[in-house]
Amino acid sequence: MCGIVGYVGEKPAAPILIDSLKKLEYRGYDSAGICVLNDSLKTYKTTGKIVDLESILPQGIEGTIGIGHTRWATHGKPNTVNSHPHLSRDIAVVHNGIIENYLELKENLIGDGYIFKSETDTEVIAHLLHSHLYGGSDGQSKKCDLITAVQKTLRMLEGSYAIAVLCGSEPGLMIIARKDSPLVVGIGDGEIFAASDVTSFLQHTRNVVFVDDNEVALIRNGSVEFFDADGNPVTKETTKIEWDIEAAEKAGYEHFMLKEIHEQASSVHDTFAGKISEMEGTVILDELNISDEQIRHMSRIEIIACGTSWNAGLVGKYLFEQLAGIHTDVDTGSEFRYGYPVVCGEVLTIAITQSGETADTLAAVRGARSYGCQAIAITNVVGSTITREIDSVLYTRAGPEIGVAATKSFTTQLITLYMLALKFARIRGKMSAEDSKNLLVALKKIPADIQKILNNKAVIQECARQFADAEDYFFIGRHLNYPIALEGALKLKEISYIHAEGYAAGELKHGPLALLTDKTPVVAIATKGHTYDKMLSNIKEVKARDAIVIAVANKDDTEIEKYVDVVLRIPRTHELLSPILSSVVLQLLAYYTALERGCSIDKPRNLAKSVTVE
Ligand code: G6P
Repeated sequence: MCGIVGYVGEKPAAPILIDSLKKLEYRGYDSAGICVLNDSLKTYKTTGKIVDLESILPQGIEGTIGIGHTRWATHGKPNTVNSHPHLSRDIAVVHNGIIENYLELKENLIGDGYIFKSETDTEVIAHLLHSHLYGGSDGQSKKCDLITAVQKTLRMLEGSYAIAVLCGSEPGLMIIARKDSPLVVGIGDGEIFAASDVTSFLQHTRNVVFVDDNEVALIRNGSVEFFDADGNPVTKETTKIEWDIEAAEKAGYEHFMLKEIHEQASSVHDTFAGKISEMEGTVILDELNISDEQIRHMSRIEIIACGTSWNAGLVGKYLFEQLAGIHTDVDTGSEFRYGYPVVCGEVLTIAITQSGETADTLAAVRGARSYGCQAIAITNVVGSTITREIDSVLYTRAGPEIGVAATKSFTTQLITLYMLALKFARIRGKMSAEDSKNLLVALKKIPADIQKILNNKAVIQECARQFADAEDYFFIGRHLNYPIALEGALKLKEISYIHAEGYAAGELKHGPLALLTDKTPVVAIATKGHTYDKMLSNIKEVKARDAIVIAVANKDDTEIEKYVDVVLRIPRTHELLSPILSSVVLQLLAYYTALERGCSIDKPRNLAKSVTVE
């Protein structure tokens, strides 16, 4: 995840910025840069680690004001040109977030004579600032002050941002602003720090001010002034941070996994931001290198993935078949690579891999391509191996995932699959504009729905505590909820070490019923939909064997509590989308169970985040 830092004080800025960036390394990044202002802007950028950046800095850079950035690529490859700060003449900017309308803004700026060096969305901010400050690309004299240029620029941006801005002709001044991306200010003794998170300056000061959405702040002469979106001054409270550095990296959460579960409300939004139009019922995936003609003639989809990504792939199968009418197979990389697949007709391979580095997935995709299949990847890591070997790449934009158990990478993979299936369905004439509008309207509400589940997590924690001593757990679901049952079981076994199995609910009677006792919790995903009544029958079968039933059900379902022991509620959403919400519940159930059992949650025994060997 990108991180920004800024310093305004009396000490040399460069070493402080480097030190601050090192504290943000845990967020994950692929390149970094700083810009220091003395009598002019001095910018240094590189790919790789902060120590690599440090090694290219000349000795004794003068200047006591500067900005810095760690980049985790979302638009454009991880290279030096794309890394921040981005400049437009005497303006430098660092940015964390996604500018959704950057293509449109870029086109207009190019028309106005601005020359773009990078592929990033951020560079539009630098040129917009310049154009407001100097009245255009060839403007020489200022038309307004820097804060006015910042305010005019922000009004044109759609999306999320935390930015820090320097201007060569405004020595001693830094402007920062935020919308939907974290930003905090540290108040030191005659010096001010700005950063994406407090860890970056905690060694200098524990007094912080949290910047709120749509606020802009002017930092100079050891003090900071805040303004709202209309330019009115705002009085802010200073908070004293009591956390230690390790806790601060986790933003106060006990584990990265819990932090990442919470991040889902914003990460799923980032996945679809700028890519859906619920007014028109369309999905815009410009990065997809497949013609409409090819989509119409596609005869089969072959999904290849491992682990959690494979479970996401199973959801994809239901979506591609139900919405777009395309027969879909889902294989694990390790099976596909040594199989003898029958490839005839127009087959599209979709590789799903959070890391983009899983050895079996890579080998299987290479195999599929050797049979002549077109291939696309759904991945979270820009520039990863898979992105260099494939026809098109769809990025999930979840931000780095540090906990070994996948959480936000799974739900953002699901969002990407919904978008892809809907796009294919529309092109193939299988879905009306009305139906797709309804689905997209509901999709837009998913971040808020996730937040509601998170706000109510105490009920899930209590349930986890109650059954934490169980030796076996079963998870059952039908249709789209079947892969979610598999994922719920996988999460539980990975981090709590309880034996857990996921089953298609209709399959229980073909074996697993024999294992149920009055000590076996069975998690039944029983959200409203066309298989709801069948799920109720399965729940009754389970209860008849005296097992404990924990239902995941809709908030407005008053029927379910008659048949089960515990109900974990999710908001009512479009039937097709409820798996996203159920996953969040099951992640929390696994997390709190592991917590109760004292397990090593972020680094479970014997498991690795990325399996790059066979
Ligand atoms: C490992 C991880 C899992 C992940 C799987 C596939 O087993 O522990 O969380 O689902 O690899 O990884 P990928 O990066 O290809 O999605």
